[in-house]
Amino acid sequence: MELGEKYKGEVIDINSQGLGVVKTNNQVIFIEDCIIGDIVEFEVIEKKKNYFLGKLIEILNYSNLREKYEFDTSKLGGGVPLINLKYDEQLKWKERKLKTDLYKICKCEFEVDNIVGMVNPFRYRNNTQFFVGANNGKTIIGYVKRKSNDIIPLEEDILQKEIGDKIIESIKEWINKYNIEAFDRKNNKGYIKNIGIRTNQNSQAMVILVTHTRELPHKNELIHKLIRDTGSVVSIYQNINKDSQTKYGKEFIRIFGDEFLVDYIGDIKFNISPESFFQTNSYQTEKLYEIVKKYLNPQKQDIVFDLYSGIGSIALFIAKEVNKVIGIEYVKSAVKDAKRNAVLNNIENAYFYHGKVENLLSEISKKEGIPNKIILDPPRSGADKNTIYEIIRLNPEDIVYVSCNSSTLARDLNILLNNGYKVKKIKPVDMFPHTTEIETVALLSKVK
Ligand SMILES: C[S@@+](CC[C@H](N)C(=O)[O-])C[C@H]1O[C@@H](n2cnc3c(N)ncnc32)[C@H](O)[C@@H]1O
Repeated sequence: MELGEKYKGEVIDINSQGLGVVKTNNQVIFIEDCIIGDIVEFEVIEKKKNYFLGKLIEILNYSNLREKYEFDTSKLGGGVPLINLKYDEQLKWKERKLKTDLYKICKCEFEVDNIVGMVNPFRYRNNTQFFVGANNGKTIIGYVKRKSNDIIPLEEDILQKEIGDKIIESIKEWINKYNIEAFDRKNNKGYIKNIGIRTNQNSQAMVILVTHTRELPHKNELIHKLIRDTGSVVSIYQNINKDSQTKYGKEFIRIFGDEFLVDYIGDIKFNISPESFFQTNSYQTEKLYEIVKKYLNPQKQDIVFDLYSGIGSIALFIAKEVNKVIGIEYVKSAVKDAKRNAVLNNIENAYFYHGKVENLLSEISKKEGIPNKIILDPPRSGADKNTIYEIIRLNPEDIVYVSCNSSTLARDLNILLNNGYKVKKIKPVDMFPHTTEIETVALLSKVK
């Protein structure tokens, strides 16, 4: 393969970053913006150690696995690389990828239960952030284009609730009426930088207007307009953020309505503040947690540890059915939210500790009792090796592992398999349709 040369080939797979995979002349090439079954022409633009990167020139023959939409999917930014693949094919891809990753590392074929897909895989995001910028003097709102600072103007976002589209429309009208300047990132002048929209399952919304300084001309007009146009904006915050790297600055000023947005997972209520972490797809979260609960098979005498507990949502979901549940989490505000959510739901047998799991696990098991069941839901990097060995030492009868990364899941399962545990069940859940993310729940039990 020569750099700068053009080639043709069929896309035979999609890799974990969502790039199309073409194999030609015994070489592997990864190419953006194409899906399985497309016949493409591409230019080779970069050589890596084991593969090449190609730039798509043209799709010569469109795959019959392509979904047809009435809108332009390229306007959704780079976060949804599977969007053009039919949804049932996306689900098959996720199941295949999970099985391959498990086999590669654990060297055995597990029976993987069917993935839980969404009936309607759209409008599922309950937390979205849009960028505000200018193009030829005109203020625009949208997503940032992959690998650039360009903003793609947005009309409709099929991943967020309809109320989100109405909010964007209303803000655009206000911008045009009063000639509100977008923040100019090069010259550090102007007003609005970003817009955060959080929604709940009742389609109520919290709007977060991110500005560089406190000044926001015609702020009251915007507040009244948003309320009038949407009917269900229940809370508006202004966030002051002088930094361009972070999503929100420290200062949140409530300029209208409620302090929190209220949402539920099952019958557990959550008060969500503008910066709180909350699972992005509430519909699928409930399904995911139901599987966790089923695998855990909670009993009245159980002492359960929920490691990497976030805002305590799994712990609170199972608390009423066990003796006690202990959460460990290293983000301080999340631990505060977890404690507050326990009080909000009258749950008195859930306790939350702040710190790193690898530092606290042994100490807390001495204080709270040895857990007979452990749930762990680590970040993408998986669990720390010492944590896995500490879990083995604690010797729980069951471990429920919730993972958002099939490679690190496989790595960690392999250690548990070599140390007296067997995999009893594995089930993926599609938490993020149109992305390459694969959420999986695995149940492991002690070999008797
Ligand atoms: C995938 S999230 C799980 C959150 C929660 N279980 C839920 O369902 O919302 C992983 C969590 O682990 C936390 N975390 C990451 N590394 C950690 C560590 N070493 N010790 C404790 N918590 C950690 C993150 O802050 C995050 O809240």
